[in-house]
Amino acid sequence: MSLIVTGATGQLGRLTVESLLEQGVPAGDIVATGRRLDQLKSLGDRGVQVRHADYADPASLRTAFQGAQRVLLVSGSEPGARVQQHRNVIEAARDAGASLVAYTSIVNAATTSMRLAEDHQATEALLRGSGVPFTFLRNSWYFENYTAYLSVFLEHGAVFGSAGEGRVSAATRADYAAAAAAVLTGDGHEGRAYELGGDEPFTLAELAAEITAQAGTQVAYTDLPQAEHARALAGTGMPQLVADILADADQGLRRGELHTASGDLAGLIGRPATRLSQAIATTLRGLRTP
Ligand SMILES: NC(=O)c1ccc[n+]([C@@H]2O[C@H](COP(=O)([O-])OP(=O)(O)OC[C@H]3O[C@@H](n4cnc5c(N)ncnc54)[C@H](OP(=O)(O)O)[C@@H]3O)[C@@H](O)[C@H]2O)c1
Repeated sequence: MSLIVTGATGQLGRLTVESLLEQGVPAGDIVATGRRLDQLKSLGDRGVQVRHADYADPASLRTAFQGAQRVLLVSGSEPGARVQQHRNVIEAARDAGASLVAYTSIVNAATTSMRLAEDHQATEALLRGSGVPFTFLRNSWYFENYTAYLSVFLEHGAVFGSAGEGRVSAATRADYAAAAAAVLTGDGHEGRAYELGGDEPFTLAELAAEITAQAGTQVAYTDLPQAEHARALAGTGMPQLVADILADADQGLRRGELHTASGDLAGLIGRPATRLSQAIATTLRGLRTP
């Protein structure tokens, strides 16, 4: 068995490798790939195969994917370049004779009109036309999109957004990674599109209320018009394009497009997904630990 994990230098890819190891997959059966091999050294020290692969460099992908049986394609992070990069990965997996490519897409990819989803929709179409068996791991938001800013929310007493009363089925990266590992090691996932998200969708006002309850500091949700939200995000130093895409994603959240009641995440990982209250408690503990 040769299981390729792309983006292993990043957070989701790394957690997927860790999950495979926890599941008892022999380290030598796992190939962790990425652009920055120094980030993969500790995995190499544990017996994981480590190979250089750049989505933009088809030759590197061909070499890295030699002997590939199943491949996890972690969606890239360069707006404007992703679809061609993903095409390169899919073609390399096909040419290596892989029997499955699992792709980290976005929840409700078939119906959402969020700008963020366009690359995912294009990549899903590429996979469908590639002839390679595929699985779509359609992830909703990470809890970490919010918990990473917990200290900022506490400092300002506010969570800003433009999602109104929309509910998001967020989950931890670790849970999405466990689902990816389950698909890489399990059978019968070919042709499936999993709508992945937490079991307890929440509004951003409920997020603020949970933070308030646990931290003992008042944090309120302030709902902004979309353009103002984009301006506020850009004001934090974020590139304007990214700010616009994130404010647009909040409109998707508002419309319910980041919500799923599929139960697919809990089904794949064989337990309930981590709860929002647990994610906040863990982050608060981290903030308070000197
Ligand atoms: N669902 C959500 O809430 C959410 C939130 C943010 C992002 N995402 C998407 O989910 C993906 C994984 O999330 P994450 O948290 O693991 O992000 P991350 O920590 O930024 O990791 C992204 C990974 O993609 C790799 N990558 C990007 N371009 C590449 C290229 N040209 N060649 C090879 N590797 C490349 C990065 O490699 P380097 O280390 O070399 O940069 C890194 O390993 C993101 O890339 C993004 O598409 C989803």
